[in-house]
Amino acid sequence: MAAGAAVAVVDLDGRSAEETARRLDPSGRRTLAAAADVSNPASLAQAAELAEARLGPLSGWVNNAGIVQMIAAKDISPEAWRREFEINVAGVMNGAQAAYRAFAGRGGAIVNIASNAGKVGFPNMAAYNATKAAVINLTRSLAREWAAERINVNAVCPGSVATPMLRGVADRLAAETGRSSDALFAGMVPAQLGRHIQPIEVGRVVVFLLTGAAEIIRGQAINIDGGETPY
Ligand SMILES: NC(=O)c1ccc[n+]([C@@H]2O[C@H](COP(=O)([O-])OP(=O)(O)OC[C@H]3O[C@@H](n4cnc5c(N)ncnc54)[C@H](O)[C@@H]3O)[C@@H](O)[C@H]2O)c1
Repeated sequence: MAAGAAVAVVDLDGRSAEETARRLDPSGRRTLAAAADVSNPASLAQAAELAEARLGPLSGWVNNAGIVQMIAAKDISPEAWRREFEINVAGVMNGAQAAYRAFAGRGGAIVNIASNAGKVGFPNMAAYNATKAAVINLTRSLAREWAAERINVNAVCPGSVATPMLRGVADRLAAETGRSSDALFAGMVPAQLGRHIQPIEVGRVVVFLLTGAAEIIRGQAINIDGGETPY
């Protein structure tokens, strides 16, 4: 919004999408909130149509939805594995295809929210790590394949962002270790930065990648984890 764009906020939880949209623009004139399930291509297509009808042609798309299940590798069930890939990987592909169609030959930019977990193998998160590595490679593939259609595709690899997901990771570790969730959460900060990353800080990088100023950055997976991951 601060960059001048109209924004559609789409989430499985329609009420949370509405709340975010209201915070972005209380007047509601330049936002749209919709509920959709990224694992369901039809539901994403519907959200894209709604956004176009309300806000005009789409030129940028962010694939942000994701889940993390903290399970020891030896215990991951086929169902848990499938679920993580259905949302974190198929969800990104469904979103990218919906964006491709919505851009309708005019070009545009897509940013996929991967994770530093896609480069580092964090313990008890094997499925999550693998899904995010898949997102990084999918980003490279789509960038190569869709460049001729003037679609730029990049990924960002955050870490230690203060969101309910990180809080959930701290809660689960606390349940396993008997340590305090607050203390664990407080310790989940990048050493160089010495604090959590705020969602708005991720948003600023994403906005940049959606603009023409980022045209020379293509198919990349950019670490935005406060210096934790050096490659
Ligand atoms: N928080 C971090 O430190 C961190 C680090 C690296 C990467 N990420 C990634 O950032 C993205 C956002 O994560 P977050 O930390 O805000 O997590 P979060 O759990 O706080 O929010 C995730 C959102 O995704 C939505 N969602 C889940 N399944 C969905 C589905 N099937 N369809 C539509 N929406 C769905 C949820 O309703 C929720 O609003 C995720 O892709 C996550 O993997 C987060």
